Parts: sequence; C-alpha cells; structure tokens
Amino acid sequence: MIKIAIYPGTFDPITNGHLDLIQRGLMTFDEVIIAVAPSTRKQPLFTIQERLKLINMAIKGLKNAKVEAFSSLLVEYVRRKKGIAILRGLRAVSDFEYELQMAHMNRRLDMHIETVFMMPSEEYSFLTSSIVKEVASFGGSVKGLVPAEVEKALKRKLKGLKGLTE
Ligand code: COA
Repeated sequence: MIKIAIYPGTFDPITNGHLDLIQRGLMTFDEVIIAVAPSTRKQPLFTIQERLKLINMAIKGLKNAKVEAFSSLLVEYVRRKKGIAILRGLRAVSDFEYELQMAHMNRRLDMHIETVFMMPSEEYSFLTSSIVKEVASFGGSVKGLVPAEVEKALKRKLKGLKGLTE
C-alpha cells in the first residue's frame, strides 16, 4: 500500500517554507498531495488557478508531489484520495494551539486519519504568506523566501493592483 499524505493550506502564495515541508514529507511518505483550499474568508491575493499554477511550477522537480484544489471538508478529501495522514508544519510555539484544535477536530471527524507535524527549516520559522505579501507590497525583497516564479508573480499582481487604485 502506498502511503499518501495530504498537505492542506491556502498557499497564497506558496513559500520556500512550504516547499521545505513538502520535501520533508516526501522523505516519509510515498506521495504528498498539496491540497489548496479556496479560503475565501482570507480574501486571497491570488486566485485558486494562479495558486495551483505557481505550486505546479515550484514542485516541478519533486517526483511524487502533486497539487489539487479542494473545497470540501478536509477529512472527506483525504478519504477520497486514500490518504493516511494530514501533513502540517509547526514553525513556532505560536502555531501549536491552532494546529492542536484542527488536529483534534479532524480526528473527531475521522479517527483513522492521523495528523503529522513536521518542522520546517529554522530559516523559515518566521515565514508566512501574509508577511511575504506585506513586504512585497512595499517593494521589499522576498528573494530566497519564495520560488523565483512567485517573486515575479507577486510583482506583476501588486503592480496590477496599484494600477487599479491610481
Ligand atoms: N512555511 C511558511 N509558511 C507557512 C508554513 C511553512 N512551512 N506553514 C504554514 N505557513 C503559513 C501559511 O502561509 C499561512 O500564512 P497566512 O495566514 O499568512 O496565509 C499560515 O501559516 C497558516 O495557514 P495555512 O497553512 O494556509 O493554513 P490555513 O490555516 O489557511 O488553512 C486549512 C487551513 C485550509 C487546512 C483548513 O481551513 C481546512 O482544512 N479547511 C477545509 C475545511 C475543513 O475541513 N475545516 C475543518 C478543519 S478542522
């Protein structure tokens, strides 16, 4: 039986911290499916299609990693994909409470699906998609924090948005 892990999130946009975690996941699981949630409540900067495209470019070299959008309950999606685990990153103690709540709720919804936490590399422990967007929106450099395609896409998107308000 192949061991499939589902790595869910908003990925608005994918960062090198997410990629680090995907690579770690691939060392333990046979396949990692990156599951992109619409997360409309977060009012994402990138559309779901844009996020999928950026992730696809970022994981090009990673055999056994693939990406899909999902809009159901996470545990339902995991069951559909025959996943055995939900993969989540723990960057700092501050992540713990929220992650614990989600893990317990998901366990309550399906006791056969385990949540597995992995720590991204220390150099990405402060990184979030919001912080990347914030820095980029003020013209700061996010080089080394996101894949090169994401850096370009951020510039294009933010320039477009600025154009709309000018
Ligand atoms: N490196 C860098 N940043 C990371 C990271 C890493 N390794 N791991 C997490 N982050 C960041 C994300 O970029 C995100 O930043 P942002 O808030 O600035 O966007 C933040 O940490 C955490 O968000 P994310 O990982 O995208 O998760 P989320 O909280 O947005 O997503 C879902 C939560 C989608 C997994 C959850 O809402 C879900 O499962 N939805 C489906 C419906 C469902 O089943 N709900 C019940 C769940 S109990």
